[in-house]
Amino acid sequence: MSIVTTTVTINAAFLEEIKEDDRRLRHLLTEARAAFAQRRYRRGWLIRTVALLCDLRDQLALHFTLEESFGYFDEPVGAAPWLSERADTLRAQHPDLFIQMCEIVEAAERSLEPHVRRPRLDQIADRFDEFLAALEQHESDETDLIFQAYNDDIGVGD
Ligand SMILES: [Fe+2]
Repeated sequence: MSIVTTTVTINAAFLEEIKEDDRRLRHLLTEARAAFAQRRYRRGWLIRTVALLCDLRDQLALHFTLEESFGYFDEPVGAAPWLSERADTLRAQHPDLFIQMCEIVEAAERSLEPHVRRPRLDQIADRFDEFLAALEQHESDETDLIFQAYNDDIGVGD
């Protein structure tokens, strides 16, 4: 008689790839948060901030692509189907988050046009704060999911 056990492993390639992506994403988020905290709205600030937001949008696209390409786990998830369901729910948040970021970039680019008034820039800053809160919640939920997988005695793959 054999005993069949099902093991779910976290994808090691995924973990390796996301290290550099994560470092870069964290850096850009910190820079963008600092830029909007200044709220100086001089043209030089605006040009630098738009470029920064474009970099952040592109890095976010890479970040989501890595997560979606590699997946969070090697072999989802016979032993714990709820992990797969939660992973699907989190992945489904990516398009909305990315659209939010694209809309912020487009609004910031439009604000480079002459005679844009300060309230519009304040609106963009507020939208960016909302986006940051949503992204941070998403990332926190992903971290919780992976920790939960470890707590369920799930290993890391080679
Ligand atoms: Fe994600």
